Amino acid sequence: MSRLVVISNRVAVPKQGESGNQGGLAVALQSALRQHGGLWFGWSGETTEQFTGTIHDAEGAGITTATIDLEEQDIEEYYNGFANRTLWPLFHYRIDLTEFERDFEGGYQRVNQRFADTVAPLIEDDDLVWVHDYHLIPLGKKLREGGLRNRLGFFLHTPWPPTRLLTALPSHRKLVESLFAYDVVGFHTEDWLDSFHHYVTSLMGGTVDGTRVTVGDRTICAIIAPIGIDTAEFEAAATSDEARFARERMYMSATGRSLIVGVDRLDYSKGLRQRFLGYERFLASQPERRGLTSFLQIAPPSREKVDTYQEIRADLDALSGRINGEYADIDWTPIRYVNRGYPRQDLAGIFRAARVALVTPLRDGMNLVAKEYVAAQDPEDPGVLVLSVFAGAAEQMKDAVLVNPYSAEEMADALVTALTMPREERIRRWQALIAGVREQDVFWWCARFLDALEAVKEREMA
Ligand code: ADP
Ligand code: F6P
Repeated sequence: MSRLVVISNRVAVPKQGESGNQGGLAVALQSALRQHGGLWFGWSGETTEQFTGTIHDAEGAGITTATIDLEEQDIEEYYNGFANRTLWPLFHYRIDLTEFERDFEGGYQRVNQRFADTVAPLIEDDDLVWVHDYHLIPLGKKLREGGLRNRLGFFLHTPWPPTRLLTALPSHRKLVESLFAYDVVGFHTEDWLDSFHHYVTSLMGGTVDGTRVTVGDRTICAIIAPIGIDTAEFEAAATSDEARFARERMYMSATGRSLIVGVDRLDYSKGLRQRFLGYERFLASQPERRGLTSFLQIAPPSREKVDTYQEIRADLDALSGRINGEYADIDWTPIRYVNRGYPRQDLAGIFRAARVALVTPLRDGMNLVAKEYVAAQDPEDPGVLVLSVFAGAAEQMKDAVLVNPYSAEEMADALVTALTMPREERIRRWQALIAGVREQDVFWWCARFLDALEAVKEREMA
């Protein structure tokens, strides 16, 4: 079996003995890395005065990691700049928030080159190399330019935008061309793959034949592989002692009210403003239900150096304050808004206590919270998932209550539907949802991508 080299902006491996507090992607990649052997390479999250390419090796949870520090200017132009001020908003259809700066692009190319130069000597002849996400699109091309002949895959964890949006990026052609250095390119949904096909056929004179996408003399394999969660682990987490304790705290705080929960990084793509407005509409239009629900929104801060993220924080502080000011009573706060992270077991308990989850992004590559909420439910008395039609997860999770997050009225209606849904219907919908979440879990996703990559013949370099 070939070794696996995973490359991503962040490397998320827990320290020895730490098991609870890690995301599904980390779990899946760790298990794939344990199975194949190999290493995980990325940015350490630290800064250095001057980039030297010094590698920090570590062993943890049975796998090897190698990380590098970046200069302040690198982080500003590559991570806060091109990745999170240009590509992230553009790929989430927020052209109004997208900044186009040549310096950002310069930093992005420079850091991708630094990644390529530093990781290349660590790659052995037969290794499978798997690059992740929008931070590192040009990395494959830079590795090829350095002579790498290995099987090389790329997975995009965000949406792929429609062609007309993408062409607003001055260097769009260069970015897309660089994807052709990979052998396999993966997307979460048919929507994102269709948009990629559209760009290639309409602007590059390319052709599509099943999974084969050809431009000139180069053919790559482009597949749909929707990421899942470690369902068994999350189901177990939901019945752990920690989860039971968190659930009790939730029930005690709710004092008999129906709990509604939202859990998201504090990001404008998650539709938090629209969610708050939808809940406000629900309160305004359902006076008899006021006081009978309690909405908990957990939203840990994210990418705080980027001003759009500072603005959304200020906006939500004001909005939650205004709604509470308007509707709260001496013994009731309509919205509890919490800006911190929780261990996974606690999160699972919070999900299990909630009668309704609001997962209503304006645009999302997949959205794992939707799957975690389903995995955490009590099979005898499950809650209801209200899911945005604009989350990648909606392609798989058709038995959720699907909603247009831009419409406060639809959100208010969806809340009424969810809160009044009979138990039999809740069970029926949940059974259909959990079957999918169990079958297409994160290990299924990993195997689906790596099978496609392993099937590629080692390329013949010209
Ligand atoms: P994104 O990758 O854009 O942040 P996802 O929904 O796909 O969105 O994944 C978010 C992950 O982060 C989920 O595993 C979720 O449980 C976790 N998460 C989000 N908010 C918190 C929080 N407050 N505490 C702990 N984990 C969180
Ligand atoms: O899912 C998209 C993503 O950018 C991941 O790549 C990343 O780990 C996560 O969101 C959190 O963002 P950040 O690494 O910028 O804190």
